[in-house]
Amino acid sequence: MPYIIDGKKISAEIKDELKQEVARLKERGITPCLAVIQVGEDPASTVYVNNKQKACAYIGMESRACRLAETVTEQELLELIDSLNKDDSVHGILVQLPVPGHIDEKRVIDAISPQKDVDGFHPQSVGALSIGEQGFVSCTPAGIIQLLKRSHIEISGKECVVVGRSNIVGKPMAMLLLRENGTVTVCHSRTRNLKEVCRRADILVAAIGKPRFFDESYVKEGAVVIDVGIHRDEHNKLCGDVDFDRVAGHVSAITPVPGGVGPMTIAMLMNNCVEAAQGNIVDE
Ligand code: GUN
Repeated sequence: MPYIIDGKKISAEIKDELKQEVARLKERGITPCLAVIQVGEDPASTVYVNNKQKACAYIGMESRACRLAETVTEQELLELIDSLNKDDSVHGILVQLPVPGHIDEKRVIDAISPQKDVDGFHPQSVGALSIGEQGFVSCTPAGIIQLLKRSHIEISGKECVVVGRSNIVGKPMAMLLLRENGTVTVCHSRTRNLKEVCRRADILVAAIGKPRFFDESYVKEGAVVIDVGIHRDEHNKLCGDVDFDRVAGHVSAITPVPGGVGPMTIAMLMNNCVEAAQGNIVDE
């Protein structure tokens, strides 16, 4: 059997480390605070926002929930962001996505101060990552680097294949693996011979968004497989982009779904908030 990369355990370790750091900050009179803005009442978003608040409470941080009506205007939302940007007691600002259709998501992301952009979505944060400057990094790919490092999986010199090119996962993932000296290939819907490219991977990051898409024919014997997907199958069971049961016998290490990549996102969000409070923007 492969090594199962336990994201639940690693995220708990990170949160416990952060709890200690928050206690040290509090001794210096700083209580890290995350402002979470939710527009409307989408039930899935409400669950995510509540989980973020619970994580803040666990590590001893403050959280400020700003719940706005579905009908709020873009201008009102931008004004709220502006006031949070100017509020020294708020260190991180996150707008839960998606926002309703009448609000321009890009304008909202651009309005968040890069010093408080704990999601790492601001163009300045993305640009900083791509040229090796300090800035906040998108939480899911940052969490994947932590999973690999804390599982003692070497990245340097490895063939890394990322399937998916979203701004939130695929692109920052590629930049982070490159920064760790991996040899990186990014695949997407127009990639020819996807299977062949995936079979070259020492480290395969599956973020294609299709349930159980990757079977054993996509993986090289002994590869490391990171599954970013999360879906419910026809029996209402959670599954990833990878067909775990078919792939597990062929790989050296793999993340399960649930309990792999998922729990890391919130741990890295907390990490970014603590870094923001330290006024010292470090991304890992
Ligand atoms: N909606 C789903 N995932 C995310 C995330 O990571 N950040 C934000 N802001 N919204 C999301």
